Amino acid sequence: MTAVTFRQFGGPDVLHPEEVQVPPLARDHVLIRVGAVSVGRLLDLVARSGNHPYARFSFPHILGAEHAGVVAAIGADVTGHRIGDHVATFPVVTDPNCPVVQAGYGELSPTLQIIGTHRQGAYAQYAAVPARNVFSVPDGLSPSDAVAVALAGAVAMNQLHRAGFVPGQRLVVQGATSALGSTTALLAQHLGAELIVTSRHADKRKRLSALGFANVLDSTSVSLAQDIRDIFTGRGSDIVVDNLGDLALWTKGMDALAPGGAMVTSGAFLGREVTVDLQRLYSQGQRIIGVRTGNLESATRMWAEVHKGFRSVVDRTFPLRSASEAHRYVECSSNVGRVTLTVD
Ligand SMILES: NC(=O)c1ccc[n+]([C@@H]2O[C@H](COP(=O)([O-])OP(=O)(O)OC[C@H]3O[C@@H](n4cnc5c(N)ncnc54)[C@H](OP(=O)(O)O)[C@@H]3O)[C@@H](O)[C@H]2O)c1
Repeated sequence: MTAVTFRQFGGPDVLHPEEVQVPPLARDHVLIRVGAVSVGRLLDLVARSGNHPYARFSFPHILGAEHAGVVAAIGADVTGHRIGDHVATFPVVTDPNCPVVQAGYGELSPTLQIIGTHRQGAYAQYAAVPARNVFSVPDGLSPSDAVAVALAGAVAMNQLHRAGFVPGQRLVVQGATSALGSTTALLAQHLGAELIVTSRHADKRKRLSALGFANVLDSTSVSLAQDIRDIFTGRGSDIVVDNLGDLALWTKGMDALAPGGAMVTSGAFLGREVTVDLQRLYSQGQRIIGVRTGNLESATRMWAEVHKGFRSVVDRTFPLRSASEAHRYVECSSNVGRVTLTVD
């Protein structure tokens, strides 16, 4: 089969198409004929540059985490899937016998592996993946649209779950143009949140408005926290989601948090350290929650919502052979939503 591989860390040009073996099929795996695969910041760009904190690659390596396509073959022990099914893969693989997984915290399991990071990925015509990570895709949803939710939707659902979200609550998503941020915002809206989304750029704010968000604010505004309070009639936000790690933006988010509110983060690519006013945190009963990623339970709940109409957003697709170009595009942060590679 054709795959896009890399044999050394570096810039986007280290990615090259080459012919490799179709992956072998374990008894509890299915073989997916890949239709689309995500291009994300940490799992693709950072990993390809050699700066991923957990990845230990052996070269040649195939990137590609969440993907969607058609079931092409089924392992001997697999039930519940048929050849030809339209499916998408949740790329966080854990051992179902691990006590941490059984306690509902798969994302914290020491057995956690991510497809495309700890195993060969799906920048390829075929990927062999555990059957329990494979979800049925509703009719009419394209592979790229399925990819847009296959990881980000599960992370978003876990963020809302861990924060204790209930319909009607007030929620702010910072950097809501990002693949994850847009998905969290759209899921929260689908589930009945009162929502504010932010972006630095006027043109991207217009695109957020076009997605149906009523309250779109400038994340660089010095009055952001007050602007949020004005929209939320003085009280502040029950939940603020910030996956970015920018000190100024984090501080504005904390300033906008309501008493009893939760700040949630699943990423920090702009920086690792922020400041916290502990006196305000404890006296207002607020929480800061790190959500490493999704788990099979959050993926299952998220796909139930997809079957009820929840959708995320695809910014742009590139053919698999143009993976380098797709990496360069994501690097310049011009996307609103998920960028994918499509595979013939
Ligand atoms: N834990 C998980 O499973 C998981 C999964 C996916 C993503 N993530 C994390 O979520 C974060 C976003 O990743 P992504 O792939 O969704 O990102 P992405 O699509 O590449 O979007 C990048 C985002 O960063 C914002 N941004 C870029 N530079 C900025 C700056 N200097 N100041 C403020 N904002 C800036 C952009 O907002 P503007 O609109 O303002 O340009 C945009 O929202 C990362 O930290 C990533 O690790 C985590």
